[in-house]
Amino acid sequence: MKVTIIGAGNVGATCAEVIANRRIASEVVLVDIAEGYAEGKAMDIMQCASNSKFDTIVKGSSNDYSLTANSEVIVVTSGIPRKPGMTREELIGTNAAVVKSVMESALKYSPNAIFVMVTNPLDTMTLAALKITGLDRKRIIGMGGALDSARFKYFLSQKLNKPVYDIEGMVIGGHGDTTMIPLIRYATYKGMPVTELLSLEEQEEVCKSTMVGGATLTKLLGTSAWYAPGAAVANVVESILYDFKRMIPCSVLLDGEYGQKGLCIGVPCIIGKNGLEEIVEINLNDKETEKFLASVEAVHNTNKELTV
Ligand code: NAI
Ligand code: 2OP
Repeated sequence: MKVTIIGAGNVGATCAEVIANRRIASEVVLVDIAEGYAEGKAMDIMQCASNSKFDTIVKGSSNDYSLTANSEVIVVTSGIPRKPGMTREELIGTNAAVVKSVMESALKYSPNAIFVMVTNPLDTMTLAALKITGLDRKRIIGMGGALDSARFKYFLSQKLNKPVYDIEGMVIGGHGDTTMIPLIRYATYKGMPVTELLSLEEQEEVCKSTMVGGATLTKLLGTSAWYAPGAAVANVVESILYDFKRMIPCSVLLDGEYGQKGLCIGVPCIIGKNGLEEIVEINLNDKETEKFLASVEAVHNTNKELTV
């Protein structure tokens, strides 16, 4: 099982480390445009192997895509991240050009790979990847909801003072501070609706913290987060490689589902060996539908700035 990760920066290298530590793949190739950077990150991760006890081989490449040949999954994290005060949308011009060049190079060597997009603004970059490559929508999956849902579960666990493992919850919609929709009505603690365990005010606090989860960390760290993003990507990769068919909210191209077409946005997806196996259409009440439609509009508006 071979995975390529393009962009050996914070998110890409963390993802490689999680994949190795959890032995998700036998080989990981990190690629970066910065000379020596991917090789350095790969060597550092490999020097964990004896202590952390994994046998995944992690290799690095300074923009030589021949090393990535025949990867089953390709993760695209290359691009610039947010700085404090920046929105994900402000990254669009620079990152679209980066996505175009790396996707074209990667596809030459791995024509059958499934792509997991990470570069922001996520929903727009996922659409850009589809337009650039012309690939079937099943093969291009945007990772945003897996991270936002992990943050949602974290804030729920903090508020409930219960272990995060006992909590279920999903965030759908765009991967943006104002566009994501934490589905509090569907969140549970061991099957019990959290709406029965938290006051309305507490529920609102959890949703708000989730929505600004990325921005809060960007402010604290001076750049965007990487541990939780790296782990979230690794989980999506795992569901593809092992055909687990897990339900993970991902940004995928809608073709009539949820009454929408022509945009990528976070919806519950079954993720397996073919990439997107199925989009699950859960019932949304009036309030949730209103939020989803607003999110769709916002993502469409960002997409208008796409020139690829
Ligand atoms: P980073 O700056 O640490 O790493 C990005 C890497 O991409 C750098 O090492 C850079 O040299 C490389 N790169 C740039 N152009 C390249 C090219 N043409 N080919 C190969 N490599 C190239 O940034 P970080 O923190 O890893 O974030 C990466 C991206 O992921 C950003 O766009 C960020 O906003 C996004 N992100 C998305 C998340 C999500 O949930 N979808 C979560 C966290 C970050
Ligand atoms: C995050 O949510 C910025 O998308 C990045 O941390």
